Amino acid sequence: MVCMMVLQVVYAQHEIRCIKREREALFEFKAALVDHHGMLSSWSTVDCCQWKRIRCSNLTGHIVMLDLRGNGERYISGEIHISLMELPQLKYLTLSFNDFGGNHIPKFLGSLSNLRYLDLSYSDFGGNIPSQLGNLSNLLYLDLSHNPFEGIIPSHLGNLSHLQKLHLSYLEIDDGKNVRD
Ligand SMILES: *[C@@H]1O[C@H](CO)[C@@H](O)[C@H](O)[C@H]1NC(C)=O
Ligand SMILES: *[C@@H]1O[C@H](CO)[C@@H](O)[C@H](O)[C@H]1NC(C)=O
Ligand SMILES: *[C@@H]1O[C@H](CO)[C@@H](O)[C@H](O)[C@H]1NC(C)=O
Repeated sequence: MVCMMVLQVVYAQHEIRCIKREREALFEFKAALVDHHGMLSSWSTVDCCQWKRIRCSNLTGHIVMLDLRGNGERYISGEIHISLMELPQLKYLTLSFNDFGGNHIPKFLGSLSNLRYLDLSYSDFGGNIPSQLGNLSNLLYLDLSHNPFEGIIPSHLGNLSHLQKLHLSYLEIDDGKNVRD
């Protein structure tokens, strides 16, 4: 197991696949977040395809996956920076189990048109669910559960015609208590 990992690293050192523009976008994205627990500490080298919680396409080098799921001890907070828009090939985005302190889900997520999988559960997102999420026409999986949203579920989500799984449980918390377990 360890041997295989070492081999993979050695092979990967031959070329840098990371696209410069995407690396810079991720540095901006990281700078806007609060990462007290070092979840993104590997995000510092030139080849962003080697960073933890990221996967690049091995055909194009574009970033296709960002898995920023927190857990009890490690989580991020702060702002979700619009620089994510510089990742046009992003298919898989997880921001669950973090602490966004009641901030709204950014409307621009609705423009990441290649997204197939979006998990924003258990992250203390507040405000209204942006109707722009209904623009994610390739989405197969959407999890908004366990967030203290206000208002109604936008009917625009009905436009997500490819959706296979939709999680909307525990959207409202009226006593202000944190649902993180
Ligand atoms: C891309 O990487 C995956 C996983 O490592 C591998 O299965 C696949 O064959 C690779 N594709 C190409 C075209 O190299
Ligand atoms: C996204 O959705 C909003 C409203 O839900 C709409 O006004 C807007 O034009 C859409 N944007 C794109 C790029 O499709
Ligand atoms: C999406 O849904 C809304 C409300 O359900 C509707 O008004 C709008 O025209 C739809 N947009 C598209 C692009 O289908």
